[in-house]
Amino acid sequence: MAATDMPRVKLGSQGLEVSKLGYGCMGLTGMYNNPVPEEEGIAIIKEAFSKGVTFFDTSDIYGANHANEYLVGKALKHLPREKVQLATKFGICKIDLTEVVVKGTPEYVRSCCEASLKRLQVEYIDLYYIHRIDTTVPIEETMRELKKLVEEGKIKYIGLSEAHPDTIRRAHAVHPITALQQEYSLWTRDIEDDIIPLCRFILILIVFQELGIGVVPYSPVGRGLFGGKAVVESLPTNSFLEKHPRFTGDNIEKNKSIYFRLEELAKKHGCLPAQLAIAWVLNQGDEFVPIPGTTKTKNLHDNIDSVKLKLTKEEVKEICDVVPISEVAGQRIGEAFYKTTYRYAITPPLKQ
Ligand code: ATR
Repeated sequence: MAATDMPRVKLGSQGLEVSKLGYGCMGLTGMYNNPVPEEEGIAIIKEAFSKGVTFFDTSDIYGANHANEYLVGKALKHLPREKVQLATKFGICKIDLTEVVVKGTPEYVRSCCEASLKRLQVEYIDLYYIHRIDTTVPIEETMRELKKLVEEGKIKYIGLSEAHPDTIRRAHAVHPITALQQEYSLWTRDIEDDIIPLCRFILILIVFQELGIGVVPYSPVGRGLFGGKAVVESLPTNSFLEKHPRFTGDNIEKNKSIYFRLEELAKKHGCLPAQLAIAWVLNQGDEFVPIPGTTKTKNLHDNIDSVKLKLTKEEVKEICDVVPISEVAGQRIGEAFYKTTYRYAITPPLKQ
């Protein structure tokens, strides 16, 4: 696809404009597969940009010793900074298979932002997310510091990830939230009950109040399942998925049938199952900007081409129907991480 064919959309209502498809850089420094060599990582980011993807997503916690931000920073040296929308995150200070430590104090916010700017070698971050919510710190305290960073020009827009609706409302009252990053895909649709209606409700108010929140679905390829990972392709060793509830034991055996049904339907559409999964997310509305990740140029091209798939309402429903949530086996994330997901992400009241 030519860069000029990539649609551009408004993310949130504060003025951020991004490509309709973003690129999740996380996997480049190891997660599902082994880390790719630096030159390959830079090349894939450049390739994405050459095809019109301008919205790049990283975090200070991706890769050993912040490797992902360093890599993205090096890749950005090859691209025109003003044409890139760079998103990064802070808030997870430690993560392993048994534990996640989250921090949201004002001092921590500032120190993380300054460290990310240095690693990324940029003057500003376009979209700065709270990666996970610190349930011991009133969200207003974290947001006030972020607001100061906006005023100082270090960050342009603020996002939240895995935040409870109550937390979103309280954060939004301190400073407008531009985007909400949540896991959302054919087999993870819980946010349809509360988060999406909330964002949409706020979107309806745009006309009157200039509010609005975009949705950035992460893991739109179902962490690889819809691309055939662990089904037609074996799991790489040292993959995070080796311990993932949906990819292990009896669950993966059950989940394989989901992949095969999607594969059948994809044939009907003349596309790949991964493309159908991404197109389904893209077709949820203009405010949805998914960020599929891949370590392979071919898969990158296929994912970008999914933007061309225009689906009717009936087709969107048909795709949804081949992945009945009641048949998905296993939680979307392991037990150690579950407590940091959005339903638990409520913070104490602010003491006046
Ligand atoms: P996340 O947001 O967590 O990175 P995702 O985008 O749902 O998750 O899925 C990423 C996984 O899907 C990666 O393991 C990627 O594997 P490769 O690095 O081997 O490509 C896989 N994936 C992404 N796009 C794919 C495609 N078009 N075909 C097959 N697998 C794909």
